[in-house]
Amino acid sequence: MAGRPGSGQTALVTGASAGIGVDLAECFARGGYDLIITARTEPALKEVGERISKAHGVKVTAIPGDLGAIGAGAKLAAEIAQRGLSVDVLVNNAGFGHAGGFAAAPLEPQVGMVDLNVRALTELTHIYWKGMLAKKRGGVLNVASTAAFQPGPLMAVYYASKAYVLSFSEALWEEARGTGVHVSCLCPGPTVSKFRERAGTGKTRLGKTMTAAPSMPVAQEGYEGFLKNRRVVITGGRNKLLVGAVRMLPRGVALRTVRRLQEQV
Ligand SMILES: NC(=O)c1ccc[n+]([C@@H]2O[C@H](COP(=O)([O-])OP(=O)(O)OC[C@H]3O[C@@H](n4cnc5c(N)ncnc54)[C@H](OP(=O)(O)O)[C@@H]3O)[C@@H](O)[C@H]2O)c1
Repeated sequence: MAGRPGSGQTALVTGASAGIGVDLAECFARGGYDLIITARTEPALKEVGERISKAHGVKVTAIPGDLGAIGAGAKLAAEIAQRGLSVDVLVNNAGFGHAGGFAAAPLEPQVGMVDLNVRALTELTHIYWKGMLAKKRGGVLNVASTAAFQPGPLMAVYYASKAYVLSFSEALWEEARGTGVHVSCLCPGPTVSKFRERAGTGKTRLGKTMTAAPSMPVAQEGYEGFLKNRRVVITGGRNKLLVGAVRMLPRGVALRTVRRLQEQV
């Protein structure tokens, strides 16, 4: 269908088998983008693809895979090229968290967060970035978190990984300024998804006190922000206020506050 912002373009959405990624995929499809979606869980990915394709009349290609594996970005890109597809917009959404003090935490999920939240996101961006600049269109929507704005004692690696995503995205936004290529960093607060289950944050003070937002409005804000090339999109009024407040706090106070919020109660 012509006339939609994404007509003739394809968006690659990572982590589109569950949670925010499904809704981001839906937003881009509603905007007329064809989709390539990826995640590890093949049946869920296929179901999402079929539903979205039918609902929005766009082509959806589901390519299952583990982006946490070293070289997974290059492997995915090779598969995309082999199918004769190209990527105009990259939505780096796949990510996970792991709660707990660093000393007690097993190494595998800590390094796994770096591999997925940081490494795969960087690798995929590097693969498609030059092409976007050459075509002077498309861009990257990276999903960080409100966790990106301060260090996170008792969930240190996750917060640090999201700080990377925010810093990297803002730098690329500047590098792309004036080229026609968009870069946005979506920073949700607690959102309904499978995140909490995997991260083990359900028993923390934060998890128990802060209600989670539904995922579609979060995705919608991210999508609209991307279309407008907004550098940083903090979703929801409450999260904007909290991020603003944290920026005013002395770092030591912010650290103690986050530690308290991340304690299990
Ligand atoms: N929910 C929140 O409260 C919240 C708040 C701020 C930011 N975020 C961020 O939002 C993004 C989406 O998370 P979500 O809340 O929607 O969580 P979710 O429901 O757990 O979804 C995560 C998605 O990433 C995929 N994924 C996980 N590990 C993967 C891997 N190794 N390779 C490929 N895909 C993988 C998952 O699919 P498979 O399991 O099938 O692979 C799933 O599709 C993440 O970057 C997260 O950090 C979430």
